[in-house]
Amino acid sequence: MSGVIETLSFLRDPDFARSRFERYGDVFGTTLLGQRTVFIRGERAINDLFAQGDAIEGWWPDSVRKLLGPQSLANRNGADHKARRRVVGQLFASSALKRYSPAIVELVDDLNQELLDGASPLALVPKLRRFAFSVIASTVLGLDAVDRDVLFVDFETWCQGLFSIPFALPGSPYARALQARKRLLRRLVAVLEKAQTAASAGAPLAAGGLDLLAGGLDEAGLPLGDDDVAEQLLLLLFAGYETTASSLSCLLLSLLQHPSELAWLQQELDGVSWPPAEGEAVTAYDAIRAPRLDAVLKEVMRLAPPVGGFFRRTREPIVLADVQIPAERVVQVSIVASHRHGSESEDLGVFRPQRHLLGDSTATLLPFGGGERVCLGKALAELEIRLLAVGLLKQLRLVLEPDQDLTFRVIPSPSPKDGLLVHPCLR
Ligand code: HEM
Repeated sequence: MSGVIETLSFLRDPDFARSRFERYGDVFGTTLLGQRTVFIRGERAINDLFAQGDAIEGWWPDSVRKLLGPQSLANRNGADHKARRRVVGQLFASSALKRYSPAIVELVDDLNQELLDGASPLALVPKLRRFAFSVIASTVLGLDAVDRDVLFVDFETWCQGLFSIPFALPGSPYARALQARKRLLRRLVAVLEKAQTAASAGAPLAAGGLDLLAGGLDEAGLPLGDDDVAEQLLLLLFAGYETTASSLSCLLLSLLQHPSELAWLQQELDGVSWPPAEGEAVTAYDAIRAPRLDAVLKEVMRLAPPVGGFFRRTREPIVLADVQIPAERVVQVSIVASHRHGSESEDLGVFRPQRHLLGDSTATLLPFGGGERVCLGKALAELEIRLLAVGLLKQLRLVLEPDQDLTFRVIPSPSPKDGLLVHPCLR
């Protein structure tokens, strides 16, 4: 098949992968932007992929790879990758999350107040994006509101380059993003140095988690340099911002569009308290204490996964679901298609959170990916989504503005096109 025709339909047709899966099965090959690519969906092919060890490696499109940088753990493999995951993973250990939670609770309450004070109707999406950015910037980086705002401007410019064509023509989004990347890294190194100076002067623990990285060692047992750590921090901002913001807007939209599921969830939320008791925010609304909330989150991410797919590259020939894949192929795991593919008798196109409580769903659920590169920030993402859902839905009532476009733009992550216009009031 012609690579050009395939690339054009990939760029234009949101149903590109699904229609081909229906035609060719769970594994099909094509050529996109000159790159031989294999798409896969479903448990069997995906489990086979995760079992390949060193025969596969991480892969990102060129623009993403260059803007994340050569040291970023997203662009590294083997021992290099593992060592950096170990270092960065300390930021998301349960003791770290416990430390961050008072700041997240405060950000939720600030957001509620902002929604009540704003003119109505207001667009929720920008507010949720700001919230998601503030969570990472204040919890992980320990930044105050002023430093957060400065970082945010460059960060938005950098993000716009990630999904653009990677030619650094002067004035193009990609060229502007490269400039923003330099400024961001300089700022992140300065933030690191400030945290180190405070720690060595014996200052009390900062709000952020950067002290947890002190002494982190690379694969050769040497401390990671500040430039190296700064690139990991940039990755965290990228990986944790757009994704979480998307899941928050999809969560609120789905509930507003399904009033009976919202009422079903509210019954459960009426039985929990806000704010959570001191020291208990991490567990207060987890799957055991708030199973309906857990089911709703699973269903929202099933139907609108913030990350539609992820990639690997084959270093050697491999076999996925009995299909031979040569070396040097990019494998794209379609999360979107996997989430909607299961038994023909299951209503997988319908929003029905209860399916996750009954345990009778047949689709493969992997919103956070899997294997050796499974999302590193999953625990933080889940915590902030749960805290926002409980804190907001217990205190506010949101009414959808009737005249608006609620369909999604899908790149980089699903988000309602008109920004989700709502009228907020006290509950
Ligand atoms: C709802 C929110 C989120 C979703 C749905 C999500 C999803 C994903 C997915 C699908 C991957 C790719 C996994 C793979 O290649 O197998 C990934 C990787 C990653 N995520 Fe998340 N993510 C979310 C939030 C976060 C947050 C809050 C952070 C950190 C602040 C984060 C940090 C990362 C990192 C560092 C990686 C790269 C891991 C590696 O290459 O080893 N993510 N995430």
